[in-house]
Amino acid sequence: MKLGHWVLLAALLGSFGCATQPPTGDRLYQELGGQPGITRIVEGMLLNVARDTRIRHYFANVDIGRLRGLLIQKICVDAGGPCVYQGASMAESHRGLNLQPADFNALVEDLQRAMEQEGVPQRSQNALLARLAPQRGEVIRQ
Ligand code: HEM
Repeated sequence: MKLGHWVLLAALLGSFGCATQPPTGDRLYQELGGQPGITRIVEGMLLNVARDTRIRHYFANVDIGRLRGLLIQKICVDAGGPCVYQGASMAESHRGLNLQPADFNALVEDLQRAMEQEGVPQRSQNALLARLAPQRGEVIRQ
């Protein structure tokens, strides 16, 4: 094989490899609409929470402006985006709230509805939820 063929083969294998890899974090960040998309998703979720009689009492004395900023950072990081999370750990920030599994499910529904409203594809919605699911144990009953 000539050098040119090797280069072509390597390029083809390279692009094939990318196409078959599972979505990377950065790809999910893009699918959520990057920083503007994640901002709208978090704002939508907080509006849904404010109307959600199952869980809104937890947020009664919370500085929502600050929480909004920290949630945007957190979801950006979890989606593989270029952000730094500056808040407390999940265990620390939910300690004492005595959150139950039903509370977690309610918040997930409010987030799902916000992603739906933003037109995030189902597969990307599931990818984000799959990254939040392992944090469930740090959040509930702390
Ligand atoms: C994986 C799921 C969750 C994530 C990623 C998450 C993320 C966060 C973040 C980033 C903060 C700010 C931390 C800080 O103040 O430094 C926070 C605070 C808070 N979260 Fe969550 N949260 C989750 C689940 C929940 C659930 C299920 C509830 C209740 C239904 C909840 C209620 C709260 C409240 C009330 C605060 C404010 C605490 C305070 O300022 O004292 N969170 N959460």
